[in-house]
Amino acid sequence: MSSQSITVDLGERSYPILVGKKLIKDLGRQVAHLYLGDKVATLAVAIVDDLYGRAVRESLAGSGIPSETILVPDREGAKTIRTYQHVMEQLLRMKVGRGTIVIALGGGCVGDLAGFVAATYMRGVRLVQIPTTLLAQVDSSIGGKAALNLPEAKNIVGAFHQPSLVLSDVSLLKTLPTREVRCGVAELIKYAAIMDLRLLEFLEKERVSILGLEEGAMVRAVSWATELKSGIVARDERDQSGLRALLNFGHTFGHAVEAAMKYHGLSHGEAIAVGMAGEIRLAEALGMVSKKDVERLEALIVSYGLPIRLKGVNHRDLIRFMGHDKKAEAGRLRFALPNGLGNGTIVSDPPKKTATDAMRGCL
Ligand code: GLY
Repeated sequence: MSSQSITVDLGERSYPILVGKKLIKDLGRQVAHLYLGDKVATLAVAIVDDLYGRAVRESLAGSGIPSETILVPDREGAKTIRTYQHVMEQLLRMKVGRGTIVIALGGGCVGDLAGFVAATYMRGVRLVQIPTTLLAQVDSSIGGKAALNLPEAKNIVGAFHQPSLVLSDVSLLKTLPTREVRCGVAELIKYAAIMDLRLLEFLEKERVSILGLEEGAMVRAVSWATELKSGIVARDERDQSGLRALLNFGHTFGHAVEAAMKYHGLSHGEAIAVGMAGEIRLAEALGMVSKKDVERLEALIVSYGLPIRLKGVNHRDLIRFMGHDKKAEAGRLRFALPNGLGNGTIVSDPPKKTATDAMRGCL
């Protein structure tokens, strides 16, 4: 499959997401449409800069666009106030104005930082996302959520700031460790379970090509997820109507799992996998899916090497952390659950014992 261009339809803030192979070499030409004369700043962690920084700089330079790379710490280290301040100071040192473009070259954490920098440097500059992980390509680079953490709470400092362009180059996934590929697949399974039974069938059939990062299958999977998420973002950009909240299937339990494990041991995708296994059991208890649906989803999760059970966590801790989640509105728990596989709905405040029992089933 050749490359695809998917538009996130937000009126005058609409933007294209390009999904394809070897897209980086065309970056300069794509950014030239947005270029206003100031130097471009690319944010990346050292290991990603080593792999792809040069290709990015050369492609930009080939279109006459000067750029500089600002190195940032990896993972959640990118999302601290200290890193944010460092990046802002570097932009000042570069003497760039409102015409600069911030490029996020990396995974979800670098994307979140770059988004927040772009939202706030001189009250807002343009942002280009080049996601280099599967998770960032199918989820975090789409839709303009940008955030930093405080020691007390994740993603608590944030903004909505849509990019002007997203370049999802599946050739960049070649260097991704298998564990990271699986984490991206967890989000693909999420879209399938709440939005698209045909995607679920595709993931069942194409497991070997997806885990093998076969480029045709990856373009199909990434563009499929991009289309699903873009449609939701276009209709509920600011997460207000409940539609975007559907994307939280697996996340109410999953975030509690991450917090109970103090963000160690399990990656985000793995926590979401356990979360989906727990939440589909809740959907079953509420009569929304059959036992067969539960078994089918669990088999899919396991077939990608993702966990559905957790050891060494106390269920009381999980319940406590579930109440802290951003999605708990005024003390009420909210879940995005499949209502039949491939179709999702929001359930507010299910009976506490039913939710607790479903969660205990994951332990
Ligand atoms: N990851 C969920 C969202 O972007 O709304």
